[in-house]
Amino acid sequence: MLKAIIIYHTCSGNTKLLAEKIKERLESLNIEIKIFQDTNFQEIDSIKKFDIIGLGSPTHYYHIAKIFKEFLQKINNFNLRDKKLIAFATGSAKSSPPKICNDIVKVMKQTGIQTIAKIGCVKKPTKDINSEIEGCISKEIFKI
Ligand SMILES: Cc1cc2nc3c(=O)[nH]c(=O)nc-3n(C[C@H](O)[C@H](O)[C@H](O)COP(=O)(O)O)c2cc1C
Repeated sequence: MLKAIIIYHTCSGNTKLLAEKIKERLESLNIEIKIFQDTNFQEIDSIKKFDIIGLGSPTHYYHIAKIFKEFLQKINNFNLRDKKLIAFATGSAKSSPPKICNDIVKVMKQTGIQTIAKIGCVKKPTKDINSEIEGCISKEIFKI
């Protein structure tokens, strides 16, 4: 059984809601999943046990939230060559989430992790997010 972990930062709950939507989709694909807010995730080394790693941030001043960037810098020296990344982000402007997803991918690039999905939404996820997640994730997961 594939194992996934989702770690996100949130201030007002939007990115948490998106993280939960991604979790629901992964669960429906029979993937075992753990989910953490970054501030509650202590066992940094345990990240290496997971096949799929979801990392999500809100946009803060057109960048990854500072505290989440610091978290990413703690894991971006790991060798994650055989792992798959789902980058996700929220923001109030339409252009922000795709930019933040790309920034997460860039920070994680040196780990060797393979990006399988970038999922963004403006503020809270709406019903449409399910088909976006479906489109991004399912076909890639079945390749693993
Ligand atoms: C300090 C701060 C800075 C923000 N800067 C941006 C920004 O530059 N661009 C943007 O699109 N949204 C910006 N936002 C809006 C948030 O990214 C957006 O509301 C997001 O969905 C919040 O996620 P959260 O509820 O998980 O904290 C900012 C919000 C805060 C609190």
